[in-house]
Amino acid sequence: MSQLHIINHPMIQHKLTIMRSKETGSKDFRELLREISMLMGYEVTRDFPLQSVEIETPMCKMNGYQILGRKVAVVPILRAGLGMVDGLLTLIPVAKVGHIGLYRDEETRKPVFYYFKMPEDIQERTVIVTDPMLATGGSASDAITRLKECGCTNIRLMCLVAAPEGVRALQEAHPDVDIFTASLDEKLNDRAYILPGLGDAGDRIFGTK
Ligand code: PRP
Ligand code: URA
Repeated sequence: MSQLHIINHPMIQHKLTIMRSKETGSKDFRELLREISMLMGYEVTRDFPLQSVEIETPMCKMNGYQILGRKVAVVPILRAGLGMVDGLLTLIPVAKVGHIGLYRDEETRKPVFYYFKMPEDIQERTVIVTDPMLATGGSASDAITRLKECGCTNIRLMCLVAAPEGVRALQEAHPDVDIFTASLDEKLNDRAYILPGLGDAGDRIFGTK
């Protein structure tokens, strides 16, 4: 079974609370999402293996560490996942970026697919899928299915706010995919929005409502 990692570092919880407030506008929302994404990146990459490397400081030789040949791809689910890319790239500047376009149909609440563009060697990479909201889990689950169809075998999901319903659905569909979130919220409402949540992440990032 996949693991659910709730990253409850005080800096992340503080910033997330500001993001949740309906008084917070798009500029601050975007900046906070970028900052939290970088901070969450520390936990998402915690298991990356190190190898010893000999270097010379101005004083003497020493054995230091470098990340062992780990190739990473950051894959945002459009649109809202885009808001988490820059923070991760600050931490992992050599990562490549793929894009998956999905939106949730308002009536059926099922994801509708519209775009897919990956780095050529995506199947060799550790893939970090980003999307701030894990609600029913339909979008993340479909995105991960498509990545697996491309041969990806090492996938993790980084979100900001997750509903228990979405976590359950994703763990059932993809038991090999660990989930990293800053909060496990209470539940979904009758429109499948997360409570207390933060509203519509895409609209808040891009100012479309
Ligand atoms: C939101 C969010 C997720 C999805 C979560 O995207 O960013 O992708 O809903 O819901 P689910 O877990 O029930 O699938 P939305 O469909 O609003 O598209 P947008 O990012 O383009 O606004
Ligand atoms: N998508 C969002 O942006 N917010 C939710 O609460 C649920 C789905």
